Amino acid sequence: MTFSFNWRAALLGLLVATSAAYAADGRPPVTPAAAPAALAQRPGHAGIASANFHATEAGLEVLAKGGNAFDAAIAVAATLSVVEPESSGIGGGFMAVLHRADGREVFIDARETAPAAVNPKDYLDKNGEPNRDTALNGPLSAGIPGEPAGLAWLATHYGKLPLKDSLAPAVRVARDGFVPDGRLINAIAEREQDIRRWPASVAKYLPSGKPPVAGQTWKDPDQARTLELLGEHGFDGFYRGEIGKKLVDAVRAAGGNWTAKDLESYQIKERTPISVDYRGYRVVTAPPASSGGVAVAEILNILSGYDLTKLDEPHRLHLVIEAMRRAFRDHNDYLGDPDFVKMPLDMLLSPYYAAGLRQTILMDKATPSSMLPASTGIDPGMHTTHFSVIDKDGNIASITLTVNYTMGSTFVAEGTGVLLNDEMDDFALVPNKPNVYGLLGSAANAPAPGKRMLSSMTPSIVFGADRVGVIGSPGGSTIITQVLEGILAFIDGKDAKGIVAQKRFHHQYMPDRVDVEPGAFSPATAEALTRMGYTLKDRNPWGYMNVVTWDLKTNTLDAASDPRRESGLGKVQ
Ligand code: GLY
Repeated sequence: MTFSFNWRAALLGLLVATSAAYAADGRPPVTPAAAPAALAQRPGHAGIASANFHATEAGLEVLAKGGNAFDAAIAVAATLSVVEPESSGIGGGFMAVLHRADGREVFIDARETAPAAVNPKDYLDKNGEPNRDTALNGPLSAGIPGEPAGLAWLATHYGKLPLKDSLAPAVRVARDGFVPDGRLINAIAEREQDIRRWPASVAKYLPSGKPPVAGQTWKDPDQARTLELLGEHGFDGFYRGEIGKKLVDAVRAAGGNWTAKDLESYQIKERTPISVDYRGYRVVTAPPASSGGVAVAEILNILSGYDLTKLDEPHRLHLVIEAMRRAFRDHNDYLGDPDFVKMPLDMLLSPYYAAGLRQTILMDKATPSSMLPASTGIDPGMHTTHFSVIDKDGNIASITLTVNYTMGSTFVAEGTGVLLNDEMDDFALVPNKPNVYGLLGSAANAPAPGKRMLSSMTPSIVFGADRVGVIGSPGGSTIITQVLEGILAFIDGKDAKGIVAQKRFHHQYMPDRVDVEPGAFSPATAEALTRMGYTLKDRNPWGYMNVVTWDLKTNTLDAASDPRRESGLGKVQ
């Protein structure tokens, strides 16, 4: 490919001298995001969308008992821990964007942390190469869980009901049993060899010596008891006492390095959500230690300089993909745990910076990623889970939860029923070597005692003059582009069902290609994009979006779960 001038120099110059680029750009600055405000109305009814009908029904049950959206969120999250353990659980963590009916907004960071004894050498083999086994399997791969502390925090600070009451439906499902869906059965089969390495994992997931079969009822009494202790004693019920001791003993006996102090000193962080205005809509989303909200805001800021509605489909997609490419490049370079690293967030979120980036985009040609200042594959993971809640008073919860890879570390701590996460792989364990999602990292995301590993989780809420949308999805690095495409679909006027069903595409800077879900692009659009210089790669469907929308004109709610899997439920009552 030949270019008529020095692209690299031009791009570098524009990235550095962004203010100057903005002045030359001449476009009006993006209006700073409006301050949150209470909405003038209440829906009068509630909507929940989650990846499993047991969890959605648990949330609705707690609402019926007088709970609010945040109590319902506790019920949904805890039930997902039981019925969808391949994606999230009390051995993992979550990130939540909350909007209270009084207008106050907060981001709850219940992300896992590295234990104090974290040692980067544990993630190298004897030749100094990345050891993917310790990064992804067994107790060394597990961060200190954040979800139990997060659930206790939600009950204490935002809910109306005692934690115990909100956890009751999950305890009941775990104790009485449920029929695992096909996805859980497949996840256990996929990770069977690793599960077999740990006796308590075999006892829990291979109770008859093999993965459960369709239609078989499955009980989880150990987790029921752990959830009960959490309900009775709050934080201490999990991080101290009997369960805390069993967790530490099990981890250490299997070669891990957790201590009682790691558990006792775990802290929830409340942060200010990122808030960005885009063409009359206000998007409230996840700040670091997630990279997702920064990337979504950067992409929206870039796109705000174009009127996408006036463009044909190939050109609209071209601009969205170029914005994705630039945001993912920054993701790799700058982002990490805000309590440990200084990040140029003012720059990354600035409309001036976006305007500079915009000037590096040609209207008819893909920019090869290699032409951007240097800073890798994707497994469009089916791990992690997201749910959305709006209650009758207008409280809103957008929550994404994870144990990282399917079935986390596959390690269950003896006597607790707790499946531990393998979130340590979300650190840049070895600089510039890709993690399971093909993401690269730098020093900003290097592991350190007590540090949170960077996440892609992007729970978001979009406020327009006439509509509110609660949006999020699992899918590793694809979470960011799924949420972005969900926001754009919401702004285009799609209903909840249309948003979750919409076909997806994804670009993450490296590898320099566009992943395309079957049917996402028409043959003519695919040909036009190929002519512009894009490499398109067909991929199996990915993600599992759960959306609730609120139409402020008719004061009605709509809830939908992604049709890509069978067990989800979006319901309004
Ligand atoms: N473990 C996936 C994420 O947090 O992005």
